[in-house]
Amino acid sequence: MRELTPETITDAVLDQMATTPDARMREVMAAAVRHLHAFAREVKLTPGEWIRGIEFMTAVGGMCTPERQEFILLSDTLGLSALVNGLHDSTAVEDGTHTSLLGPFYRETSPRLAAGSQIARTVKPGSECALYGRVTDVNGRPLANASVSIWQTGADGLYDIQESAASTDYRGVFATDADGVYMLRTVKPVGYSIPMDGPVGGMVKAQARHGMRPAHIHFLVGAPGYRELVTALYLRDDPHLADDVVFGSSGDLAVDLDANDPGCPIKGLPSIRFDMRLSREGAADKTSGRVGSDPAAIVKSRAGTGNGQSPAAAPAAS
Ligand code: BEZ
Ligand code: FE
Repeated sequence: MRELTPETITDAVLDQMATTPDARMREVMAAAVRHLHAFAREVKLTPGEWIRGIEFMTAVGGMCTPERQEFILLSDTLGLSALVNGLHDSTAVEDGTHTSLLGPFYRETSPRLAAGSQIARTVKPGSECALYGRVTDVNGRPLANASVSIWQTGADGLYDIQESAASTDYRGVFATDADGVYMLRTVKPVGYSIPMDGPVGGMVKAQARHGMRPAHIHFLVGAPGYRELVTALYLRDDPHLADDVVFGSSGDLAVDLDANDPGCPIKGLPSIRFDMRLSREGAADKTSGRVGSDPAAIVKSRAGTGNGQSPAAAPAAS
């Protein structure tokens, strides 16, 4: 029998796992082991530090509920979600609008609303704005009847479900018209802090990071025959556009709040225009599916009440 040492242990583990029948699982797990072992060797990880790491991940898991997905937050703050999104974009057959983070506050249960509806239940004077744009293919041809799901925070920087698990506010699903246009009323998006009261917040504070996201509005857009798009618009003048704590903001997704856009179909309000281009569906879309998931569905799938997956572009129930 070979002697197990810090130099030989990695190959011993890889040899044992080589029996994994599923080829993709074999590939992913072998790479994970190689990199985890290399990490431990590089930093000369001590037993006490590894127990601290295990305690941290245990606390992250313990924080997860249908309303709060601390593991997604961890992935986001480590830049892993943004990296996976970028890798996903590179498998598209056409260069459409780029992906941005789904984040932990998307919910499949969002009301379908008529074009032009206000998605906020209460609107403080001066905070209302119009949001509109065109959904097209990469050649600018309009996609009619595309599903456009939108969610954002209120003026206090909190999502509805952070205020109350049962509330639905600042979110809705719209359909594009024959010209691919969607339009709605909302409130001006604000920058906000990610939840800092859990283990991930503790990590962010220990790293002396600010924890802020720039002002943004989330989108999940689907049309038959096209790759589903999970993205967000970002306000260009936000001071944290360039140092988003979760690495979601990007110059190509930055837009302006326009005080007087003559092209806006909703008159009398400051407006934001955000056009999106969808790539045609390709082979990668048959298996990889959505970039992210309704976090509540992940927790429910653990409890055996669902599979944690959602059909591409399925608009939510009313
Ligand atoms: C969000 O934009 O909703 C979000 C994304 C990542 C972490 C926290 C919040
Ligand atoms: Fe957000």
